[in-house]
Amino acid sequence: MSKIKKALIPAAGLGTRFLPATKTVPKEMLTLVDAPIILYVVEEAIQAGIEDIILIAGRGKYAIEDFFDSSYELEDKLARTGQTHLLDRLNHVRDNANIISIRQKQALGLGHAVLCGAPVLGNDPFAVLLGDEITLSDKKNSSLTSQLCEIYAKTGNTVVSIMPVEERDVSKYGIAEVEKTAEKYFRVKSLVEKPQPTEVQSRWALTGRYVFENEILSVLKEARPTLNGEIQLTDSMNLLAQRSAMWASSFNGVRHDAGDKLGYLKANVELALKNDELGPEFKKYLREVYTRIKE
Ligand code: G1P
Repeated sequence: MSKIKKALIPAAGLGTRFLPATKTVPKEMLTLVDAPIILYVVEEAIQAGIEDIILIAGRGKYAIEDFFDSSYELEDKLARTGQTHLLDRLNHVRDNANIISIRQKQALGLGHAVLCGAPVLGNDPFAVLLGDEITLSDKKNSSLTSQLCEIYAKTGNTVVSIMPVEERDVSKYGIAEVEKTAEKYFRVKSLVEKPQPTEVQSRWALTGRYVFENEILSVLKEARPTLNGEIQLTDSMNLLAQRSAMWASSFNGVRHDAGDKLGYLKANVELALKNDELGPEFKKYLREVYTRIKE
């Protein structure tokens, strides 16, 4: 069974939840402390041993490609002033992964975005990491994508990450009906994209991290648009789950939807508190501002 060496990051969405900020800046380029959201996502993939990262970008998203490219003038200046460490995180990405960019010419949904990666994915299994979500694991545990890759290595089947959600949030997510297994992960029985809470028993939502058998591409090729006139990845996953085993793992770390205003603020606060340089001072400030504003 082949190891997961390729990851696809869909980043073609228009970012309407974050307007006007995202009118000219891709939402994936919004800053979390001192790096754009997309850098955290790419780092999670690299941590899992992934070497080829396929960005599915849309029109007006060239800032993402430029970010991973070199910038001679700036790098030359940093080298001359002894400040090359300021680009350490970016250089780590360049040294460890190939960033490949493909353009999704039409906004036809997440399933279509994944299909756009087919020429580079070939016959290999691959991970999908949604470009506006970040996950943080505690020091003891490996990253969420690493955990999914480990289950794939054991089973050879598609593995998805799930989290419990409140009833009022069911219609915001892909929902998975799952059953317990003797292992730490669940078996997926069926999936449905953004159902009403009355339509499903389950409260387990898909979180935006997946590891797919290559077979998903054949299913997607046959898929037709459904919800919102888009080719829904969840529909094809449901078909795949009926044909072969599919597993779901509940993540014990923290996930933030940084493409959403509240999620973005939470991600910034959490990352700032964990930041060695800013954390202690920021914690003091948060306490102070909380007391002041509460009154
Ligand atoms: C997408 C998926 C959905 C998943 C969600 C996780 O929805 O279609 O199944 O639960 O991401 O964030 P979107 O947030 O793009 O509407």
